[in-house]
Amino acid sequence: MKIAVVGATGLVGSEMLKVLEEQGFGTSDYEIIVAASEKSVGKTIDFAGRQLIVVSVEEAIKMKPDYALFSAGASTSKKYAPMFSAEGTVVIDNSSAWRKEEGVPLVVPEVNIDTVKPENKIIANPNCSTIQMVLAISELHRKYKIKRLVISTYQSVTGTGMKAIQQLESEERHDANYEKVYPYAIHRNLFPHGGDFQADGYTSEEQKLVDETRKILNDYSIGITATVVRVPVVGGHSESVNIEFANDFEMADVVELLKATKGVEVLDDIENNVYPMPIYAHGKNEVFVGRIRRDFSNANSLNLWVVADNIRKGAATNAVQIMQELIKKQ
Ligand code: A2P
Repeated sequence: MKIAVVGATGLVGSEMLKVLEEQGFGTSDYEIIVAASEKSVGKTIDFAGRQLIVVSVEEAIKMKPDYALFSAGASTSKKYAPMFSAEGTVVIDNSSAWRKEEGVPLVVPEVNIDTVKPENKIIANPNCSTIQMVLAISELHRKYKIKRLVISTYQSVTGTGMKAIQQLESEERHDANYEKVYPYAIHRNLFPHGGDFQADGYTSEEQKLVDETRKILNDYSIGITATVVRVPVVGGHSESVNIEFANDFEMADVVELLKATKGVEVLDDIENNVYPMPIYAHGKNEVFVGRIRRDFSNANSLNLWVVADNIRKGAATNAVQIMQELIKKQ
């Protein structure tokens, strides 16, 4: 089997390679093709004890991989994903390019892998903040039916890519010699600004939480409002999620449902100060949920604190898991 990683030199692409190796794709049964922009062609990347040589995207298309995992930006996906699929390759795309496209499944495998049909040659990986929240609430929605979600995020700089990490680290060192990717300093600061501002006052990152959650849960009746905040953190995204259900619930049952949700780990022991944090989630594949408590200000309402490594479950892990599920179905 041939698997291509497009954008293999980037933050998410290199994490995809790590996850592939961890998941057993480092054996000789799999040919791993690494592609990036022209400037990286010929560079080598260490993978499972061997060195892979970076090829151009055009070259990767000619090699007709079975699967192509994309994380090279939306314009690269728009241009190249159809060219891969024309060759029979199944593309799993981490960018926003195809997420809203009708007929393109938007997939969190534990929640809706059944939406992928054999004819789908492009599959979209959702936005990082959406993946972790949807996974946490999916079983609760099935049982109690969500009416409304109020989400506030505390998003890691890793969501903005390598240059954002460099900005934070340069500011920490008081080193003025860096390329600024944020409009303000992020060290000792935060800003309520993720993505671009829209005419209605929301940001594109906030809009993704609304649109993608409805598409994944296939429920356009859910009221959703979000505030996305960028914080000087590198290990993962945190989210405060307030949920109003149509039906009342038992707290013990909520905890049991969360514990039973595949891919979710409950970390909720306030007596011992146990709750999810980015320093704990960093490098892990699970979505961590804690601070589980009833919202006494409103009927049938609940508060959750949800943390995950946005580069792992929010991007690379989710993409690899989609591919693993499709391989199982073959
Ligand atoms: P390169 O390193 O050659 O620029 P990040 O999100 O961390 O910035 O990474 C983006 C990834 O997408 C990198 O691997 C980058 O390759 C790749 N990439 C960016 N633009 C293109 C393009 N036009 N064609 C192919 N790969 C691209």
